[in-house]
Amino acid sequence: MGHAAVAPLPAAPFFQTEHGSAFQMDAVEFLQSLADESVDLVVTSPPYDGQPKYQKGDVYDRAWYRDKFMAVTAELLRVLKPDGNFVLNYRSRRYNKERGTIQYELVFWLREQGWLFAEDFIWGKPSPPPGRFNQCLKDAVEYCFQFAKSGSFRFFPENCLLPARWDKKDRERRLRLPQNHVRVNEPSGHGRIRVKAAVEMARPSNLLIAEPEFGKNPAHHPARFPVTLPDFFIRLMTSSAEDLVVDPFGGTGTTAVAAERLGRRWMVSEILPSYCETMRERLQEETRQPSLAISERVVTAP
Ligand SMILES: C[S@@+](CC[C@H](N)C(=O)[O-])C[C@H]1O[C@@H](n2cnc3c(N)ncnc32)[C@H](O)[C@@H]1O
Repeated sequence: MGHAAVAPLPAAPFFQTEHGSAFQMDAVEFLQSLADESVDLVVTSPPYDGQPKYQKGDVYDRAWYRDKFMAVTAELLRVLKPDGNFVLNYRSRRYNKERGTIQYELVFWLREQGWLFAEDFIWGKPSPPPGRFNQCLKDAVEYCFQFAKSGSFRFFPENCLLPARWDKKDRERRLRLPQNHVRVNEPSGHGRIRVKAAVEMARPSNLLIAEPEFGKNPAHHPARFPVTLPDFFIRLMTSSAEDLVVDPFGGTGTTAVAAERLGRRWMVSEILPSYCETMRERLQEETRQPSLAISERVVTAP
């Protein structure tokens, strides 16, 4: 494996693929074994508060986020490269009539820890889990908070272009924009202004529309995100096959699947052996699939 030569592996991996390694380990222990400033992107989704326990002894209450989760992010701050990004997918649950506030507290705690709060992407789910409640509606959104170490974080929106709205008025407007033209020198020596290729594509917005994960769920994992989510952030925030993507709360390996398909190096940790096993089977099966077609990717409003 290419990356084994770049840095020593933290422990014996649970399994490896062409591009990455999965470790059955506690997130903090896993990160402690990585070198300073060695990671390009972290995409992760920690346990939700009130989630039935994944592991005996862990209760995902406010104190768990304040202590355990912040110990994980302290390590992330150390292992991330100076221009790296950390995407945190999270949503506090409701407590009776009130929406939980840990999602907002986390932003303030992380800023105190030294992170720059770069953006709050909203993941909107067109078909949220069904339910009928008295004084609230179906929950169809989650946050994907983007944190960085400085304002010079890596960012490649041109890797995430989407078909632009393309009615007659919009087409005329786009054709007038100076950035949509190039000057081409003809063999005659005359210069000519041409409309750029792919002018019909536009940068995405920070509203990410993606269906929740409906695929088969052999380990009955209660909280997986769709491959489209890490796929979007890996394209937006990394650019080369050398870039290393990490997920310390690996679950069933969704971040690993996205990184593998995009040909990025990846490393994930997951504490429960049953999820590691599911991850292994999933990587084996899914790496045989071709890369995601654009229509399967996060559909955002340009
Ligand atoms: C919300 S899930 C992640 C789901 C994942 N994004 C996916 O799509 O499958 C959080 C995961 O963190 C794992 N976990 C909980 N505590 C952990 C710890 N201390 N170290 C590593 N993993 C942990 C849980 O077992 C669970 O699978």
